[in-house]
This record gives sequence, structure tokens and C-alpha cells, in this order.
Amino acid sequence: MKKLLILTLLIIIVIVSPVMAQEVKQILNVSEFANIIDQTVPVFVDSVPTREDDWYHGRPKYSRFLRFKTLKMAFGDGNPDKKHFRTMMSDLGITNDDHVVLYGARGEIPYHFGAFYLMKYFGHEKVSVLDGGLSEWRETQPITTEEVTVQKTEYKVKVMNRKILADAIDVWSKRWDPHTAIIDARLPEEVSGSLVFDENKRSGRIELSVNVNWYDLFKPNGTFKEESELLQKFEDKGIGKDDNSIVYSQAGYRASGTYFVLTLLGFQNVRNYSASFVDWANQENKKKYAVVGPAYYVGGKTCKKCHRKQYLSWAKTKMAVNFNNLKPGVKADAKKKVGLEPEKDYTNDENCLPCHTTGYGKPGGFVSLKETPGLINVQCEGCHGPGSTYVKLMKEGKTKWEEAGYTDEQLKTTGLIIPEENEQGCMACHGGDSPFNEKVDSKYNWNWPERVQKTHKHFPLKYKIK
Ligand code: HEC
Ligand code: HEC
Ligand code: HEC
Ligand code: HEC
Repeated sequence: MKKLLILTLLIIIVIVSPVMAQEVKQILNVSEFANIIDQTVPVFVDSVPTREDDWYHGRPKYSRFLRFKTLKMAFGDGNPDKKHFRTMMSDLGITNDDHVVLYGARGEIPYHFGAFYLMKYFGHEKVSVLDGGLSEWRETQPITTEEVTVQKTEYKVKVMNRKILADAIDVWSKRWDPHTAIIDARLPEEVSGSLVFDENKRSGRIELSVNVNWYDLFKPNGTFKEESELLQKFEDKGIGKDDNSIVYSQAGYRASGTYFVLTLLGFQNVRNYSASFVDWANQENKKKYAVVGPAYYVGGKTCKKCHRKQYLSWAKTKMAVNFNNLKPGVKADAKKKVGLEPEKDYTNDENCLPCHTTGYGKPGGFVSLKETPGLINVQCEGCHGPGSTYVKLMKEGKTKWEEAGYTDEQLKTTGLIIPEENEQGCMACHGGDSPFNEKVDSKYNWNWPERVQKTHKHFPLKYKIK
């Protein structure tokens, strides 16, 4: 019995110890790095536009310089290139057992995360990132401009970790999966399509993706925000540790960074669509690899096709005819009471239109009675948000939601507003900015539960997954 125990222990030690020895901390702060620098191979990763300047002004001792061009060849436009990766590692003088510490000029410059991702992909487990990069290091630590002589090595690539890579087909086939989040790491301007890159044939974002801006994950000094705060950023978008996730950005570097953060936070199943948006936006099959631009207003009749019962009951409310109130002579007493001119025509008055039409002043919303007569009154989208992206999705996904259901989070990626969570959205019109607010007359009182019931009749949802 005792022998058996010792034997088991021995086996555990033999099996586990090499694995244990492999494990290094994924992220190091400056002092952690300073303590172990002698046992590591520090690598400064250059960026575009080049930051060689930062490098020449001094860096942590032993550092090697990874040129962006070299990294880009190994990154292979998001299809990791084994041959170039091996050359890159050999030329940097890195052996398969080295503990590599990557950093850039600043923490949020994403290129060193591209190098991190490549190393993980090709099975180099002993790799860490210096939080905050060179700028943070220089605050408290010694720097040097001394060159290191690098001995070329015989680096070997044994593994290709296909599990952590995604391509366009993976994204396309997983985007409707309620358990997979497609995370867009780009700036809101890139996501909305207002910031355009020449190399993208189309602008916008991948259908059903959610935006978690890479730069929002950092403090002003370029170090990461606290873990709880980072986690919250994803949870706010309905993404939890149990979800599978696929990340993308423009060229895959910020996505590699988001990959880094998610694995740091303990997300289990994270894949990098490292070829990213530039790959998606240039796919031949435009219909399949659809790009979503900013949502615009489509009018309530479009909603009626699928929500007939809600539509018919809404059509009986005052909201469905309230544009009329802006006409001369209508509701004269009420107007007089709040100091408006009963005989004045307010149907072109920009002071009234935001609250008495659908989407006035917003992209694709009400413009004027002449140009957009279909968007007078407070229609469905006045409370539920512009519907073009959402309607397209619901039409194309018909077989999906009928079979597998859908989650609120998925619908919300289109900009659909679920008013249940958005009382302040009502207050934009029902609050103090309205001439007809509760201070003027108690009949304009705001009572949320009661008002909700009077927007239209409510019916239980069949396909929604809670
Ligand atoms: C092609 C059909 C279709 C069109 C068009 C459509 N919807 Fe829907 N919508 C659905 C389906 C299906 C559901 C889920 C119903 C269920 O679960 O029973 C839904 C659910 C909703 C929900 C509930 C979301 C939730 O989870 O609480 C809202 C709100 C909604 N739609 C608003 C709109 C608005 C506003 C429009 C017009 C801009 C619109 N819909 C147009 C098919 C459609
Ligand atoms: C775009 C502006 C706008 C928004 C947003 C808005 N409302 Fe209104 N709502 C109006 C206007 C204008 C009227 C007045 C219609 C009238 O009296 O002619 C109104 C009237 C109503 C009425 C009375 C309907 C009736 O027939 O008596 C209810 C109930 C209501 N709103 C609920 C809500 C709720 C709940 C929300 C948020 C989910 C909301 N509203 C958001 C503009 C808005
Ligand atoms: C900030 C939003 C907002 C603006 C701006 C606004 N309204 Fe309204 N209006 C409302 C809401 C909300 C109601 C409904 C109040 C309620 O039912 O509680 C309403 C109701 C009315 C009514 C019906 C009042 C009644 O007692 O039946 C008239 C008439 C009216 N508005 C005219 C105007 C005119 C004219 C203007 C421009 C000078 C204007 N409104 C600007 C939000 C607005
Ligand atoms: C004045 C605001 C307002 C307008 C306008 C409005 N809705 Fe809603 N809608 C709501 C609110 C609030 C809820 C959530 C009810 C809840 O919390 O249970 C809702 C829920 C829904 C749902 C979920 C299922 C249900 O019946 O509750 C659908 C579908 C929907 N709306 C469709 C529409 C359509 C279609 C139109 C246009 C004909 C429309 N809504 C206009 C406020 C609005």
C-alpha cells in the first residue's frame, strides 16, 4: 500500500514537473520583470510607424530588437507562417527553452501581442508580456544602449495550435451560435464604417459582432486596467467566461491583444481570427461574408410583417398619430397652457421634431414631411432603435432562430434596443425637455410600469433563450 502511494507520487512528480517548469506568468509588471530579467530573453517589438527611436534611447539589458517587417512575415497576414516564424526565432537567438518577455514602446501598441500569439500558436509556452512596455520600464528601471551579440539558434517548431486560430468560414458558421461571441477589437469609428481603409473593399463590421475597443482596456499610462474592470468590459457586452469567443480587428494585431486579455482572464475557448477584417472585407462572396454598415430607420410597416399583433395595438395609441399635434389648431388648449402658439405650424420646427417623429437628426431618420413621410410619429424604432441591420438579420436567420433560438445579446449587436432595460431612453422625450412634462400638469406624469403596458400589447416570446 505504502509502496503504491510512493510510486503514484513519483509518477505524478515525473509527469507534472516538466509541465510545471514550463509555466510562466503571462503578464509581468515592471518589478516582476526586473527580478527575473537574468533568466529571460527580453524582446522589443518594433511598430509602424517605426519606434526605433525609443529603442535607441535605451532599453532593459539583454533586449533584442524584433523588426516589424520580420514579425509581419511570420504573422503571414493572419495565416501564421511556420518557415518565417522559425527564421524569426532563430535570428533572435531564441532557443525552444527560453523564457521570452515581449514588450513594445508602450503597452497598448498591439504588435508585441501579435508576436505573443504567434509563439502560442507554434507551441512556445514560455512567453510573457511586460505590462506597460518600455515607457513604463523607464519610469523606475535602469536602461542601456549596449548591443547584445546574438547567436543564431536552431529553433524547432513542433506544434501548430490550430485550436486557437479561426478563419472566415469559422466566423461565418459560428456567428449565429448563441454560445459564441464574435468580438470586434477595433475603434467605434472603424466598426461603424465612418473610418475607412483603402485596403478594405467594404467598410463596417461583421454581422453579429460586438465591439470591445482594444484601447479601452488600458489605463492612461499604457498598463492594463484591473482584471475586474477588464472582465466587466466583456460582461457589459454579454460575454462571459463560459462563452466561446472569436476575436478580430483590422489586421489581427489588436485581436491578438484581445486574445491575450481573454486568456489572461481565464476564458477557456478563445480563437483569433487573425486574418481579421481586411480578409473578411475582401472576400469574393459579398453576400455570404456580409458587412454591416450603420443601421438606419426602416419604418414600422417593416416590423408589422413579423409583429402584426404589436403593430395593431400600437397603431391605436396616441404615439401613432402624434405628429398631428404639430399642426395649427390641434390641441389648442394644451398648447396655450404651456405657452405655445395654437395657430402656429410646428410641422417643420426643429424644436418639436426630435420627439414627434422617428429618428429625427439621426442617420437614416426623419428629415422632413416631404422627404420622409414614412417616418412621422413615434413608431416602433422610436423606442427600439434603427431597425435595418436587425431586420436583415432576422430575415436571413429565420431558420436559425426557429431551430436554435436566439439571445438578447445577439439581437443587441444590431443596435436593437430592448426598452425593458432602457427607461432613460423614454426620458429623452418624456423628461423635462418636453413642454408637456409632469411639472406642467399631473396628467403628463411618468409612471414606468404603467406606461410600459400602454406602449402596445405585450406577448410572450417563443424563441428567445434566457
Ligand atoms: C423577419 C421577421 C422580423 C421582422 C421584420 C422584425 N422582427 Fe422583431 N423579432 C422577430 C422574431 C422572430 C423575434 C423573436 C420572437 C420570439 O422569440 O417569439 C423578434 C423579437 C423582437 C423583439 C424582442 C426582443 C427581446 O428579446 O426582448 C423586439 C423588441 C423586436 N423584435 C422588435 C422589432 C422591431 C422594432 C422591428 C422593426 C424594425 C422588428 N422587430 C422586425 C422577427 C422579426
Ligand atoms: C421619440 C420620443 C419618444 C420616446 C423615445 C418615447 N415616447 Fe412615449 N410618447 C411620445 C409622444 C410625443 C407621445 C404623445 C402622444 C400624444 O399625446 O399625442 C407619447 C406618448 C406615450 C404614451 C401614451 C400613449 C397613449 O395612447 O396614451 C405612452 C404609454 C408612452 N408614450 C410610453 C413610452 C415609453 C414606455 C417609452 C420608452 C420605452 C416611450 N414612451 C418613449 C414620444 C416618445
Ligand atoms: C423632449 C421631447 C418633446 C419635445 C421637444 C416636444 N414634445 Fe410635444 N410631447 C412630448 C411628449 C412626451 C408628449 C406626451 C406627454 C404625455 O403624454 O405624458 C407630448 C405631447 C404633445 C402634445 C399633446 C399634449 C396633450 O395634452 O395632449 C402637443 C400638442 C405637443 N406635444 C406639441 C409639441 C410642440 C408644438 C412642440 C414643439 C414646440 C413639442 N411638442 C415639442 C415630447 C416632446
Ligand atoms: C413607446 C415605446 C415603444 C414603441 C413605440 C414600441 N415598443 Fe415594442 N416594446 C416597448 C417596451 C417597453 C417593451 C418591453 C415590454 C416589457 O418590458 O415587458 C417592448 C417589447 C416589444 C417586443 C417584445 C414582445 C412583446 O410583445 O413585449 C416586441 C416584439 C416589440 N416590442 C415590437 C414592437 C413593434 C413591432 C413596434 C411598432 C409597431 C413597437 N414594439 C413599438 C416599447 C415600445
